[in-house]
Amino acid sequence: MTAPDSKVPTVTPDQAPPEAEIKRFDPTQATPARRYNALLGGKDNFAADRVAASGIRNAFPDAHIAAAENRRFVLRMVRHLAHDHGVRQFLDLGCGLPARVDVHDVAQEVHPDARIVYVDNDPLVAVHARALMQGGPQGRTEFLVGDLCEPDSILAHPALRATFDPGEPVAVLVMAVLHFIPDTAQPHIAIHTLLEGLPAASYLAISHGTAELLPTAIRDQLRVVAKDAAQGTLVSRTREQVAAFADGLDLIGPGVTPIVDWLPDLDPQPTSTPEQAPCYGLLARTSAEAVSSACPAAQRVRACAFPTAMSKVGRSPAIAPAVDKSHPVP
Ligand SMILES: C[S@@+](CC[C@H](N)C(=O)[O-])C[C@H]1O[C@@H](n2cnc3c(N)ncnc32)[C@H](O)[C@@H]1O
Repeated sequence: MTAPDSKVPTVTPDQAPPEAEIKRFDPTQATPARRYNALLGGKDNFAADRVAASGIRNAFPDAHIAAAENRRFVLRMVRHLAHDHGVRQFLDLGCGLPARVDVHDVAQEVHPDARIVYVDNDPLVAVHARALMQGGPQGRTEFLVGDLCEPDSILAHPALRATFDPGEPVAVLVMAVLHFIPDTAQPHIAIHTLLEGLPAASYLAISHGTAELLPTAIRDQLRVVAKDAAQGTLVSRTREQVAAFADGLDLIGPGVTPIVDWLPDLDPQPTSTPEQAPCYGLLARTSAEAVSSACPAAQRVRACAFPTAMSKVGRSPAIAPAVDKSHPVP
C-alpha cells in the first residue's frame, strides 16, 4: 500500500511492537499485508511477498489493478460515510500497511475531529502504522494489534475505549480482509459480535474478493494458486455469501455490487471493470434487533463494550437505508 514515494518510517522505542509481536514476524513467509503492498507497487515487502504477488499475477494479470481499485473503494466509502452519513468514528479492521492516502486522511478532511482505530494482526503493519498513521491534532488515531476473529479482545482494548465516544455510531471497515478467513474461523459470528458491542446505528462496510466476476479460465488458474501453501488462505465467496455478513442489518445504497459500481461518482473514481477488480462491496447499518436476531450464535449474553452508549443512544429502530481519476494507486 505504501506508494514508491512514501517515507521510510522512523520507529521510536515507544512505537516498537511488544516482543511477542516481533516473534511472529517472519520475512520468509508471504503475508496478505505485504503481498498487497507488493501488488500496489509499495516498498514495504520482502522477496517472499513479491514471489507470492507474482504467482497471483501469473494467474490473474490484473491483480495489481484489483488492489488499486480496492483502495479507491475504501476511500470512496470513507468519504461517503463521513460526508453523507456524518460518521466521525471509524474502526478499520485489517487496515494493512500505511498508504499514501489513508482512512484518517479522508475522514479528517471531512471532519477534522474524526477518530480512527486501526487494527491488524500483522506485526509489520503494527510497526509502520504506529509510526505513520497519525492524524491531525483535532482528531485521534490509534493502532492496535488484534485479530478480527477475536472480537471481544478488540472491543475490550483500552485504546478503542479511549478513542471512541460511546454516544456516537462507529463505521466498521472490513476491506479486503474476509477473503483470508475461512468459514471454519467463523468470521460471520466475529463481525456480528463486534457490531453487537458497538453503539446502535453503527455501520458495516465490506469489500470481498470473488471469483464469480472472473472469466472461467482465470478462475481455474487462481484455484491452482490458492492451493499453494505459500499463498496462505484465499477464500472466494459468492454474492450471496458476502451478503450473509450483513444478515439482519439494513443494506444502504446499491446493495452487494462490484466495488467499481459503488459510488462511482465520488473521488477517487473507479477506472476499471468488475472483471479487473473482482470484489463485491456492501454497506449496512445496525438497528434495534438487527445484530442479535440475525446471528443466533452471537446472541449469547456478553458484556457490551459500550454499556453507557446503549442506554444513551438507545437501541434505535432501524434507520431507513437511506483525487485524481487517472491516479493508479491512491
Ligand atoms: C489485502 S490487505 C487490505 C488492507 C486494507 N483493508 C485495504 O483494503 O486496503 C488485508 C489486511 O488484512 C489483515 N488481516 C488478515 N486477516 C486478519 C485477521 N484475522 N485479523 C486482522 N487483520 C487481518 C492483513 O494483515 C492485511 O493487512
